[in-house]
Amino acid sequence: RPKITVPKLQAMREAGEKIAMLTCYDASFASLLDRSGVDVLLIGDSLGNVVQGQTTTLPVTLADIAYHTACVARAQPRALIAADLPFGTYGTPADAFASSVEVMRAGAQMIKLEGGEWLAETVRFLVERSVPVCAHIGLTPQSVHAFGGFKVQGRTEEGASRLLRDARAMQDAGAQAVLLEAVPPAVAAAVTKAVAVPTIGIGAGVDCSGQVLVLHDMLGIFPGKPARFVKDFMAGAPSVGAAVEAYVKAVKDGSFPGLEHVF
Ligand code: KIV
Ligand code: NA
Repeated sequence: RPKITVPKLQAMREAGEKIAMLTCYDASFASLLDRSGVDVLLIGDSLGNVVQGQTTTLPVTLADIAYHTACVARAQPRALIAADLPFGTYGTPADAFASSVEVMRAGAQMIKLEGGEWLAETVRFLVERSVPVCAHIGLTPQSVHAFGGFKVQGRTEEGASRLLRDARAMQDAGAQAVLLEAVPPAVAAAVTKAVAVPTIGIGAGVDCSGQVLVLHDMLGIFPGKPARFVKDFMAGAPSVGAAVEAYVKAVKDGSFPGLEHVF
């Protein structure tokens, strides 16, 4: 199968083919996820939680992301490799560019950062310099202390219109994808309608152009109570590969997420 590229994600959105994305932090899982049909491997700063045992993503460094990106890239997946810019590494356009260069040198083909309208100048700066950008809006975990906890976003009318503004601003700045975390499904559907680029949801309902989950969550191996939007695909599956294939199939046919996974 051909390599997944940034333009291919756009083509998938236009063709109505759902994008299946999972987080991935090492070469063995990169091979397995790739064989199982995952379209995008995200080196998420969730590695702070699931690999390092931190309670937030804030301690994750650029070197951590670059290390895990290099591990994933060595598997030479057909899937697109996307990597998070960690907290504090994109405070200015110049910082954002230097950070992006570091993770792209490690093998990332797209970067993801958290923020809306206020980040437009930075996103434009990156895109002009050939850094493909996915803009993460809604519940942005790097803002946990600013929010006062991990809280669903866009629940009020004002919050919903802010999300629409953020998504449009990111698209207008050149972002090639928008990721929506923990927002009501109707708001995610409205955002998806309002922009032309692919939207990837996590806890955002089925009407996005694609879905993402944290690998350790969808395999049921992260300790503690999972978030509402998580489904354990390992439950009843004969192998890890089969669980990932079931996830990809459920994303592609629109059976995941169900109503029990939304806010
Ligand atoms: O870090 C991460 O895993 C993420 C996804 C949850 C979208 O940003
Ligand atoms: Na992240």
